[in-house]
Amino acid sequence: MDPIESFRRRVVADIEAVGGRHDEAELYEGEPGDPGLVGGPDSISWELHGDLAIVSAAGSAAIIMEVLHPSVMAGVSQQSTFRTEPIKRAQNTLGYVLRTTFGSTPAATEVIGKVRHVHSFVEGTRPDGQPYRALDPELLAWVHTCIPWAIMTAYDRYRRPLSSEEKDRYLGEQAVVGRMGGGEGVPTSVDELDAFVERIRPELAVNEQTREFIRFLAEGAVEGQAVGPRERAERWMGLRGSMMLMPRWARELTGLDHGNVAARALSDRLERTKVAVVRWAVPELPCAAIARRRATGAPDPVGVTGSAA
Ligand code: HEM
Repeated sequence: MDPIESFRRRVVADIEAVGGRHDEAELYEGEPGDPGLVGGPDSISWELHGDLAIVSAAGSAAIIMEVLHPSVMAGVSQQSTFRTEPIKRAQNTLGYVLRTTFGSTPAATEVIGKVRHVHSFVEGTRPDGQPYRALDPELLAWVHTCIPWAIMTAYDRYRRPLSSEEKDRYLGEQAVVGRMGGGEGVPTSVDELDAFVERIRPELAVNEQTREFIRFLAEGAVEGQAVGPRERAERWMGLRGSMMLMPRWARELTGLDHGNVAARALSDRLERTKVAVVRWAVPELPCAAIARRRATGAPDPVGVTGSAA
């Protein structure tokens, strides 16, 4: 086989091993003409979320921003299986973003309902004694907001600058999902996002649970495999690269700020290279291609979802 194609397939296999494939016909096919929840092929959400390189680059930044809220951190630390099933957690989280964007209206609505059900059991007490529950509408709004915020920042930085109107439109489209997930006061524009972040910011903090979580992202064993020094160094670099998308104050809060200009430049360079390689290997997500045919009512060619036109 052509060595370049062989390399591309290896990159795709590596991506799918961690992120999953996301081409389930029962989720992404459906009623011809169904645009799904966020506006269909002409939406800005489809443009941004169809770029796997960007969604992947944004992942760690979004997750770290989410857990800077000690209530979210406590829920994840005490009730998530991220330590024993990190890959499943990552795949399900990516699946949620893709399904709510490209899934048929029934499939997207169903996953939101299922996740709300999971959240209904997530409650407890933080290390500082404060009670929390995942169904708290403000916490849901915070976690929801961190995802489009990070994706929008990554797209703007690595793909093409987004106009203010496009950012507002994107946040408005995504707010539909955030509200259906139970969020209240979900920002629908950049101004609202800025105001929301300023309001939540005094509540954000780093504690031992946060430090343990961030260490796990960089060093935690996956499926019992010990992490060697090289992989650890690569994972720390990847994490720091993604964290470059976070505001400086948030990086400073984690204690992992790139104060050093050379380190910042290196992280940025590596992140841009990674994004370019992933985009070359996966120019269009399988679920986006299936969804496009559904939404435009185009026939499904044999071999993509397995069903004949
Ligand atoms: C709209 C905001 C949120 C979204 C989109 C979201 C997304 C998700 C998704 C997709 C899952 C299922 C993951 C899986 O099956 O592996 C999940 C589970 C979970 N979520 Fe959330 N979440 C949100 C808010 C929150 C909040 C506020 C908390 C904590 C206070 C929280 C804590 C958890 C926990 C502990 C689980 C169980 C994970 C596990 O089984 O390991 N989530 N969430």
